[in-house]
Parts: sequence; C-alpha cells; structure tokens
Amino acid sequence: MTTNAIRAEPIDAAQPLVARAVFPLLRDQPDLIYLDSAASAQKPAPVLARLNRFYGSEYANIHRGLYGLSETASDAYEAARDRVARFLGAASDEIIFTHNATEAINLVAHAYGDAFLKPGELILVSLLEHHANIVPWQILRDRKHLRLAAIPVDPHGDIDLAAYETLLRRGPKLVCITATANTIGTVTPLKFMIALAHRAGAVVMVDAAQAAPHMALDVHDLDCDFLAITGHKLYGPDGIGALYVRKSILADLPPFLGGGGMIRTVTIERTEFADGPRRFEAGTPSIGGAVGLATALDFIEEIGMERIAAHDAALLAHAEARLPEIAGLRILGAPKHRAGILSFTVEGLHPHDIGSLLGEEKICLRAGHHCAQPLMEHFGLAGTARLSFAVHNTIGDIDRLVDSLARVRQMLR
Ligand code: ALA
Repeated sequence: MTTNAIRAEPIDAAQPLVARAVFPLLRDQPDLIYLDSAASAQKPAPVLARLNRFYGSEYANIHRGLYGLSETASDAYEAARDRVARFLGAASDEIIFTHNATEAINLVAHAYGDAFLKPGELILVSLLEHHANIVPWQILRDRKHLRLAAIPVDPHGDIDLAAYETLLRRGPKLVCITATANTIGTVTPLKFMIALAHRAGAVVMVDAAQAAPHMALDVHDLDCDFLAITGHKLYGPDGIGALYVRKSILADLPPFLGGGGMIRTVTIERTEFADGPRRFEAGTPSIGGAVGLATALDFIEEIGMERIAAHDAALLAHAEARLPEIAGLRILGAPKHRAGILSFTVEGLHPHDIGSLLGEEKICLRAGHHCAQPLMEHFGLAGTARLSFAVHNTIGDIDRLVDSLARVRQMLR
C-alpha cells in the first residue's frame, strides 16, 4: 500500500482512515456503505495483490516438496507464522494456524479439554460470548461429564466482576472469555480477569476474533493461555485463523486432527507426532490464507492500532450522538469501553426489516441474534441491528445510515 493512502494525524472521522479507493469493492461501488466489518472485513488492494502474486507465481504445497517453488512457499507460510506471532507478542512456536477462530476454540476444547479436564470439573464462559465460545464447551461438557456455568453481565453489558469472583471460588479449571463482545462491542477487562482466573487455578481461553482488528493484543502481557483470532475480520482472507497457545501448554498438548504434515514417523501400528505447532496442522493448510493474512497484518501495522482505536472512538461517539434522533431507537448496553461495534433496536421495527430495508439503500449491516443468543436473552430480545466499523468508514456513513433509518421509520409508521 502506498502510505499516502493512509491519512496523517490528527484523526478526523469525516475522512476515512484509509481511502475507500484502497478497497476495490468499495472503489467500484461508490454508493455502498459497509458497516458490517465485524461479520467480515472488506479486502484492501495490497492483500489482493499479494494473493494474486502468491497463487499466480509462487504457489506450491508446503513442507512436502524438495523443489524450489515448494521451499519458497514453505518459507512464506512460516514467515506468516512469524508475522502473526509478532502481531500478538508471541513466539512463532506458540502460533498454530487454523481455518478460523471457531476452529481454534474447538481445537482447544478437543486437545486440551479431552486430555486435561476431568469429569465433574467446571468451565466458565461469559454471557457476552459468541456461540463459538459456548457451543464447543457444551459439547466437551457432555463428552467429558464436566460442568459449565455462565459469568453474568450487568445491565450495561459489562462483565459482572463481583459475580465472576464468586464463581471463581467454585474452582473452575478453564475460563473462556471474549476480548470484545461481537454484539455490543464491550471490551472486557481481560488482564484483570485472567489474573483472577490464574489465582483461582484456571487456565484462560480468549476469543479475540472481534478485538484483534481494533486494539493491540500482547499475549504475554495479558498472560492468557490460549487466544484465537481470525483472518477475515483483519482485512485478510477467509479460511485462515490462528491460535496462540502458551509454550508450556503446547509442549504437552496432544493433537486434535490426524493426517499428513503433523507427524514425524508413521507405521501401521503407531505414529510419532511432530513437535510444535505443526502437530496441530494436519493436511494441507490454507497456505495462501496465511500469506494473505501476513500482508493484512502489515496493512494494519502501517495504519497503527492507536490511530485505528481513535478513529473507532470518533465513529462510535458520532453514532451514539446521532442514532437516538430516531424515534424508538435504543442502543443496546452502555459498557465502559466499546470497540468498533454497536447494536440497536427500533421500537416497532423487526431487526431483519431494518437489515433488509437498509440493504435496499446499499447500507450493509448485520441484523439478528449475531450468534449470541444467551446475551440476547439477557437483554430480553430476539435480535438487534448491528453497526461495526472499519478503517474506510466515516461519520458521513453514519449520517447516511441515520437518514435512511429515519426514512424507513417514517415509511413504516
Ligand atoms: N462472528 C461474526 C459476527 O459477529 C460472523 O458477525
């Protein structure tokens, strides 16, 4: 990316942080307002160019061929692992490539849960979680005869820390928390919660799928044991995700899937597994996905997380100020800190109608339960409409949304 496509300081959210022209889809559809980056981010030109170059002139399978092309592709894949490690403040041999954050969490449920959790032991999940950080633990609970309890959320949509401390006294072995709630954008007090969990003797799984595009994450500073991210929300390709596993845990973690690429030797009787992350990467991985993700992380780093957070904050403030102009509109929750995501309902309008009517006006947002039904139930709702921001959004996008919403409201009165 040319750096002049990225705005210089100070943050003025009337302008995008990165020009729409850098995103071919947005460049080619000037009328489209994309406010659904929490579902999946649009792809910038440098990522698309890297994918094109990789598949067009550098592609081969990795860790298998002894010819130059395969060695170059293997090097690019391992360099992508180094890149993800740097993004998360981890060591490269603590990063396992997966296909998405959901698979990363399922990997932990299978590999760690099956090997280290015993019948009767307790897992905590917060009420803010996406189904991806609930359902794998329910399946594990049923498979291993474990117990599962929810960390409650207060009426603002923040974690109820007093209730959390009470639950920790029950001696959970695993605590599963999101870094940012995908529905209402709550940023959880992760470092504090992790420290409390460790003091209580639990290991911690962090779902950072929504946080990673909006804030700097340093796994060693957070001191988490597992942390999952996904590429497609980070301006990278879909089909690629990553799991950080603390080195001391990874060393003893049995494999999740068996197959090629994760072994040292195989006889018909038995297999000796590979060391390190490759033990968890059976079969041909998303090689291009990893390479594209590395470029996406370069793209984010070039913009700077602090500037992204400042831009998000300006967009959120504008949305919070303007949305209540719509009669009957309610912004869901009022957490202490939100990151780039905001949900709302409008009295008398079904969220699906909001989603499809705005869609007709070329405004893209997500409507429904957002794969977070327990949180919806907490708020007594079946669903919401959700805005989520990216570096190409401006306060003008929000103004267009509010104007369209006012028209829809008028029409359906
Ligand atoms: N997890 C994504 C979302 O929240 C798909 O929309």
